[in-house]
Parts: sequence; structure tokens; C-alpha cells
Amino acid sequence: MNSEKRDATILAVAGKGGVGKTSLAAVMVKLLVAAYPHKRILAIDADPAVGLSTALGVNVTKTVDDIRKEVVANAEDGNAKAAIELLGEARTQILDALVEMDGFSFIAVGRPEAAGCYCKINSYLKEVIGILAGNYDYIVIDGEAGIEQINRRVMEKVTHLLLITDSSRKGTQVVQTIKKVADELVMYEKVGAIANRLPDLGVKEYMDLGDIPVLSYILSDASLAEFDLKGENVFYLNDEAPIVKGAKEALTKMGII
Ligand SMILES: Nc1ncnc2c1ncn2[C@@H]1O[C@H](COP(=O)(O)OP(=O)(O)O)[C@@H](O)[C@H]1O
Ligand SMILES: [Mg+2]
Repeated sequence: MNSEKRDATILAVAGKGGVGKTSLAAVMVKLLVAAYPHKRILAIDADPAVGLSTALGVNVTKTVDDIRKEVVANAEDGNAKAAIELLGEARTQILDALVEMDGFSFIAVGRPEAAGCYCKINSYLKEVIGILAGNYDYIVIDGEAGIEQINRRVMEKVTHLLLITDSSRKGTQVVQTIKKVADELVMYEKVGAIANRLPDLGVKEYMDLGDIPVLSYILSDASLAEFDLKGENVFYLNDEAPIVKGAKEALTKMGII
């Protein structure tokens, strides 16, 4: 029996949509797997827009939302139980949604189709992170675009917050807003920005990231666009690809690898 309580290193990417959160989260999983072949690593796709599974070459059959629906359906079938009891049962079901890959595990939150339903899955997701945190050394969370999951304290236990932006004003503003809210609601140890998909390094001086340290600047990476078209996963990406080098620089600066 392993009763040892471990504190997982929990990384999360956040930022506006389309800035490269999923790509960078996937590359970070790849780098962690390479750096720590004997550690327990978990990738969580927490974005209802999904994508991390494809980027990591994972085939998902069951999601956290599927489990939530089963639990709710059972409760509505008449065996109504206290929420805490349901969650206790969900504990074993959550393990059903885990996909074991070579060097890491994967779990997806899924894509709740009912409008207005995502807040429920967010509180469920927070519990799932809490339940799984003790079983892993490293957890990488690919978050939903925007501020919602930070606001709802889903990311409360995140230790390393990576704020991703492109060179757009909107991108840097979203990142600064997230940082302000995270300062109140996330118990992070370290925070940093990654400036991604830059047309050239000259844009650096126009990017206002306030007091957020920039961990790396990544140029627009043609190889990534090509991979995306072919639907290939990041494990095929070359170590010299700008996004791989940039992610490595960021993880190194945070003291993770
Ligand atoms: N450095 C980069 N160079 C070129 N394309 C990139 C780069 N980073 C991400 N992309 C591409 O941008 C698109 C959005 O990236 P994605 O990781 O899905 O962003 P998000 O998860 O933030 O919405 C994808 O087509 C991805 O391949
Ligand atoms: Mg994404």
C-alpha cells in the first residue's frame, strides 16, 4: 500500500484561444517524458474544445464528462446519494477514463454538449485534479481559453502557471488579466509567460506583459503547421523545432527540467 502523500508538480497553460496552449502543453508532456522516464506523468485535457489527445496521439474512449453523466444518471434513477458518496464511487470510475501511454497517462474532460453545463464539469474537474494529484509526479493541464477555470478555482492547485500569448494586444491583455486573478485564486509557486507564434523577434519590444517574466519567445514554426495539417502528434517533432526549443527553455527556467 502506498500511503505516502506526494506533492505533484502541476503545470497549466492558460491564455486566449488559438495562441498555442494545446501545442505547448503537448510538447511539455513530450519533454517531461524524455527527461523523466521513471516518473509518473499525467496529461489532462481540460478544454471542452479538445485537441490535446490528437497532439499527443492518444485515442480517447471515455471522458470525465461521460463519468459525470453516468453518476448523475444513477442518482436520478432513484438511488440518490450524498454528493460526497457519489464522488467516492467516481474515484474508481475516474481510473476508467485514464489512458495509459508510453511514459505518461492521459485523461480528457470531454465536450459537454448541453449549454450552460460546463460550470458543473469544472467543479467536477477540480475534484478530479485533487483525486489524481496524489498519484502523479508531474501533471500538465491544457486549460480552456480565457479566465473561467482560473475564476472557478479549478486551477487552484497548479504549481507552475504558464501564460501563453501571441504578439496580439488581445493576447497579452488576456494573459495579464489571468495573472491578476491567479494571484488571488491560484496557489502557484511560479508564473511565467511564453510568447508564441511570433512573426519575428522584433515584435518583442511592442509586447506589454506587465510584471510577468517572459520565459521564452517562439517564432512561427512552419514544421508545426505542417504537422497540424497531417494530423501527426508532437512526438514526431524534431528537437530543433522552435516550439520544442522554446518549451524546453521555459521548463528549464522554471526549474522543472
Ligand atoms: N509556434 C507556432 N508556429 C506555427 N504554428 C503554431 C505555433 N504554435 C501553435 N501553432 C498553430 O496554431 C494553431 C492553434 O494552436 P493551439 O495549440 O491549438 O492553440 P490553443 O490551444 O491555444 O487554441 C494550431 O494550428 C497550431 O498548430
Ligand atoms: Mg487548445
